[in-house]
Amino acid sequence: MDEIEAAWSALEAAAAKASSVGMPGLFAAEPDRLRAMTLGACGLHLDLSKQPWSQAALKAALALARAAGVEAARARLFGGEAINRSEDRAVMHPALRAPDGQAFAAKGEPISGEVEAGRRAMRAFAEGVRGAAITGATGQRFKAVVHIGIGGSDLGPRLVWEALKPLRPQLELRFAANVDPSEIAQALEGLDPASTLVVAVSKTFTTQETLANAEAARGWLRERLGPGASRHMVAVSANPQKAEAFGVREVFAFRDWVGGRYSLWSAVGLSCAVGLGWDEFAALLDGAAAMDAHFGSAPLESNAPVLLALAHVLNRNALDRRARAVIPYAQRLRLLPAFLQQLEMESNGKRTAADGTAAKRATSTVVFGEPGTNAQHAFFQMLHQGTDVIPVDFIAVAEAREGPAANQAKLLANCLAQAEALMVGRPEADVRGELLAKPLDAGRIDELAPQRSFPGDRPSSLVLMDRLTPERLGALIALYEHKTFVEGVLWGINSFDQWGVELGKALAGRILPELEGGERLTHDPSTTALIERLRAT
Ligand code: F6P
Repeated sequence: MDEIEAAWSALEAAAAKASSVGMPGLFAAEPDRLRAMTLGACGLHLDLSKQPWSQAALKAALALARAAGVEAARARLFGGEAINRSEDRAVMHPALRAPDGQAFAAKGEPISGEVEAGRRAMRAFAEGVRGAAITGATGQRFKAVVHIGIGGSDLGPRLVWEALKPLRPQLELRFAANVDPSEIAQALEGLDPASTLVVAVSKTFTTQETLANAEAARGWLRERLGPGASRHMVAVSANPQKAEAFGVREVFAFRDWVGGRYSLWSAVGLSCAVGLGWDEFAALLDGAAAMDAHFGSAPLESNAPVLLALAHVLNRNALDRRARAVIPYAQRLRLLPAFLQQLEMESNGKRTAADGTAAKRATSTVVFGEPGTNAQHAFFQMLHQGTDVIPVDFIAVAEAREGPAANQAKLLANCLAQAEALMVGRPEADVRGELLAKPLDAGRIDELAPQRSFPGDRPSSLVLMDRLTPERLGALIALYEHKTFVEGVLWGINSFDQWGVELGKALAGRILPELEGGERLTHDPSTTALIERLRAT
């Protein structure tokens, strides 16, 4: 058995042993547990003590991280090596948020100067729009920004805007991602083209949905502004020639060493810089840069992304837990689960290792979630009493940003209570004791007691921050980015490509002309019947 396989086996054995004790038992047996399993990083407090590991299992997990080469992989990432092997690309999102004066290189080519120039251009544009030095075709100041993009060109900016936008923003920011005509219609509804700026964002500038929505927005602008419409559109792309050919007033370029789902920090964040102001956007970058510095230098045992990844891998691989819920107890973070769905499942939902061999272990969990407390009233029943154990990541913010202060304590009480209930549970004997005091016959008690008891010993982690500032949000997103990378290293997969999205795109391109009345092609019987049904409508 090689070193990595031996480390996996040791982790599996340690996890099985810890599971047989259970988390409440481990708390009793390990007086040092809380200190060993909580840490602070970049303003985030991370509590991993309600994860199903003993201190011995945690040690085994750290040994696995060492055996799998997490430290060397981390150095290759920051060193700009082509760790996105299938596309022969470096992965340099940390360079985008690093302070000025760094010397990052992608595959040996210096990039920090270009990154800083790109940031200056973004800043000049954001400040120009906000200060009305940059105006529309009729000289009116821009009052609304419509951000058009999908996947990584949408989810990050949407999350950031929702999290950080002021209650009464100077500029309204709207988003359109879906090719469903309803979304662009709703994004444009009620806006005045003369005071609207459209930002079309696509790394490739070939994405069907984004091009269709950008065309629709351009048509809407042209109807009112004629040829002046192009003054109302800018593009963000790693394919600047194609973006220029679309006809926009300015193109903000980024490079192919930025992965789509890691691109928020590039010009993809331009709409947020315009909507929030440069200082807020720069603070978001600073928060992420702080997490980069922590991830890059902290020893594995006190490294937040590494420990979070190990907790998730322990659940996924040693305990066969196939799903994980992400529950932000912060309404302003309501889009975090959607963002993490792409980050984790597009990065790590892979069955083939980076060297082309079959992955040796199960990879990404299913990630899902909704904000607390809403989620409690929707699917927490299953988390507490379902047949599957579904670990939870709770994300909480101590101080409210706005609204009645009395609500905030209730929100936090619910968050802590759910985590406690999941772990402590409620033994059937307690429930029976309570029911015995009621006028119920024995048969009824036998029926009710199991239904009203909670197994407990269900894992969760908690990320707590003092306030939802741009710095904290940047650190939180970077925490999950690096945790996703560490998981990929442990599983031996390339977390930075996404071949699995290609087949569906190609088939949609083939079916589209058929739906539009073109030549009939060969499909499976079900698809053929559905195409015929739609052609007939
Ligand atoms: O369909 C997947 C994907 O390629 C994502 O990885 C990406 O974030 C999204 O499409 C959008 O791509 P683009 O920015 O090139 O329009």
